[in-house]
Amino acid sequence: MQIQVTTTPDELAILAADRIEELVRTKPDCVLGFATGSTPLSTYQELIHRYQEGRIDFSKVRTFNLDEYWGLPPTHPQSYHSFMQEHVFQHLNIPADQIHLPQGHGIDEETACRDYEREIRRAGGIDLQVLGIGTNGHIGFNEPAKELRLDTHLVTLTQATVLANSRFFSSPSEVPRRAITMGVRTILSSRRLLLLATGPQKAAILQQLFQRGISTELPASLLHLHPDATILADQDAAALL
Ligand code: GLP
Repeated sequence: MQIQVTTTPDELAILAADRIEELVRTKPDCVLGFATGSTPLSTYQELIHRYQEGRIDFSKVRTFNLDEYWGLPPTHPQSYHSFMQEHVFQHLNIPADQIHLPQGHGIDEETACRDYEREIRRAGGIDLQVLGIGTNGHIGFNEPAKELRLDTHLVTLTQATVLANSRFFSSPSEVPRRAITMGVRTILSSRRLLLLATGPQKAAILQQLFQRGISTELPASLLHLHPDATILADQDAAALL
């Protein structure tokens, strides 16, 4: 696993967008894995800017998102469907049928999980997966646990995650307690991983990521096993390294 530290979050967004742009240029029909959360937003803005300037064409790109809340309809303002539509998809020229997010509503658990894995396989796997990191070390919604699930599955969110994500809801009680997420094998099967971390609130978990060994109690530590995983961190997130 490589780490690259940038001076500012803006510089990080430029570097992340550079990697994505290069992939889309060399493989226009590539499969991109997207993440939600506030960290990748500036990278997405940079990509939108480059698209508007005519530098990148996303018309052949296919996308898969990491996760979605379970029980929220896609139209709910806090669903990851809405988040991605608002911040990314409505601004880019990716055809709707090439965009995939896990279904968190109006479908049974087994079908939702199986179908998502099948669609990723049918697309030929993910070329580059963008990841954030939870303050507890989660990736997607794979929470610290004695055992991690391999494929797309339903997960009960930890109290820490419910609290961390409650900033997007009017109160913690409104945050769904469950989510559907790619599993760790799904994520690690991506040909390239790009984990983004910014801000002082990520410094402690990045320190653990580099000081501790591999542990299911720190799901992001599995990235150490991946042959092409890069962490882009800004100075604040890398402060304790
Ligand atoms: C959520 C998402 C994760 C994301 C994490 C960090 O829990 N499921 O995929 O990495 O938040 O979010 P942020 O970037 O806002 O710190």
